[in-house]
Amino acid sequence: MSLLNVESLDVAYGFGPEAVMAVKDVSFSLEPGEFLGIVGESGCGKSTLGYAITRLLRHPGRIVSGRVLFEGKDLTSLSEKEIRPLRWSEFSLVMQSGMNALNPVLSIRKQFEDTFKAHTHSTKQEIAKRVEELLNMVNIDPSFADRYPHELSGGMKQRVAIALALALNPKLVIMDEPTTALDVVVQRSILQNLKELREQHRFAVIFISHDLGTVLEMADRIAVMYAGKFVEMQSGRKLLEHPLHPYSEALLGCFADPRQEKIEIKGIPGSPPDMKHPPKGCSFAARCKYVETSCHERDPNLERYGDSQVACHVVNQKLGGIRT
Ligand SMILES: Nc1ncnc2c1ncn2[C@@H]1O[C@H](COP(=O)(O)OP(=O)(O)OP(=O)(O)O)[C@@H](O)[C@H]1O
Ligand SMILES: [Mg+2]
Repeated sequence: MSLLNVESLDVAYGFGPEAVMAVKDVSFSLEPGEFLGIVGESGCGKSTLGYAITRLLRHPGRIVSGRVLFEGKDLTSLSEKEIRPLRWSEFSLVMQSGMNALNPVLSIRKQFEDTFKAHTHSTKQEIAKRVEELLNMVNIDPSFADRYPHELSGGMKQRVAIALALALNPKLVIMDEPTTALDVVVQRSILQNLKELREQHRFAVIFISHDLGTVLEMADRIAVMYAGKFVEMQSGRKLLEHPLHPYSEALLGCFADPRQEKIEIKGIPGSPPDMKHPPKGCSFAARCKYVETSCHERDPNLERYGDSQVACHVVNQKLGGIRT
């Protein structure tokens, strides 16, 4: 059984004609221990998807339709009371700028203690030992346990946020841009740390980022998101060598290798559509260099070709003959 099955998930902010459809018809599954990267431009719905899966959406956000099966149990049908024991212990979320999610008036130790007390019957001594282990695990000297968040650097706070998310050994950790606010050296070190932790503890990760470079290196599979939809999903290696969707191709063109003699950064002309008034047809059509008439008429479905998936009329026409 898959660890997670997201089925035709639609998420909106608000109601009626003013509603923003932030996540549209997203379906995917995640195996135990798998690392899925989700990439896409700002505003495409990445955080909304993370919040919807963990049922942390705040008003006016709401799941309009679809299911989120965690080990077969539909999280969308659970009450807040039923879902609370699962959060942190079965799955957890490191929020975007998670370092700011730490409570500024509580010491680091107290924040760990609160999590343990809410979910376990551990004694104070057991918790103290575990806090030491967890801080060591994310390369922070345990003497920092009695400090307050403002006494830690941004990178250290982010490591604490990651340690908190891993404290109860969840099977799934969703990380929303966990290193975006940090400098590249600290970023590298945290990602290396994450890689080692996964090798030891085998938890599954959904890693949300706008930095395709980071995700390409770490992920088993990558989903490319555009205007609320998954437009492509395949392995990092395949995505790098043969991006299928014109948006993925354009995204890859936005990265430059600083070691190259001639650096050319292409960018993507135009801007994403207004999610309140999405265009008819493919949301990327207005920016796509391969656009055809049909692209303005119908929104393409995510079609499967072997172990790759893509939502594009032009690619579908090309690959239609080799569908498996
Ligand atoms: N509380 C809200 N009320 C109304 N609309 C919202 C709200 N939060 C997000 N949105 C809209 O939902 C869409 C998706 O937002 P989301 O934060 O999920 O994007 P994102 O991909 O995480 O972007 P970023 O990379 O900037 O973090 C955007 O169009 C945004 O304007
Ligand atoms: Mg976000």
